[in-house]
Amino acid sequence: MSSPTLQTESEAQSDYAAVGGAPAISAVVDRFYELVLGDDRLAHYFDGIELVRLKRHQVALVSTVMGGPVVYEGRDLRKAHAGMGISADDFAAVAGHLVAALTGAGVPAEIIDRTVAAVAATQPDIVEAASTHE
Ligand code: HEM
Repeated sequence: MSSPTLQTESEAQSDYAAVGGAPAISAVVDRFYELVLGDDRLAHYFDGIELVRLKRHQVALVSTVMGGPVVYEGRDLRKAHAGMGISADDFAAVAGHLVAALTGAGVPAEIIDRTVAAVAATQPDIVEAASTHE
């Protein structure tokens, strides 16, 4: 079954429903990728990656984290990012772009906080390089 770190508790109304469901999440992910790919620190990681497929995975993943009905069935996050040498700074930059995309879409701060906490829990699976500014 899927990793328990990607699940949050269901609420009376899930965050997923509160922000507007699949179309809203999809718009956030589109904006998120514009920000990530426009960031010179990060764009090189995505060279040659098929973005349509990657976005589909990310929509499913963010939806799952926010308590929506979409279940993430992509590769294990550790396997998906293995060997990329992603640093803690890279991870923080990506997480920052996610917050910006959610904020820009008018998602309430409380929901952003919960989503970011769930995403932060994946850091040990994704980061494998020491911080770049030492
Ligand atoms: C913020 C937490 C992150 C989450 C939740 C996340 C999630 C994902 C997911 C779901 C996939 C698709 C896996 C699949 O193909 O089955 C993926 C792939 C990928 N991620 Fe992340 N990711 C995160 C952070 C990062 C960071 C910080 C970087 C680089 C700076 C990164 C670079 C990539 C790349 C390049 C791929 C494509 C791998 C491939 O298809 O070969 N990710 N990520």
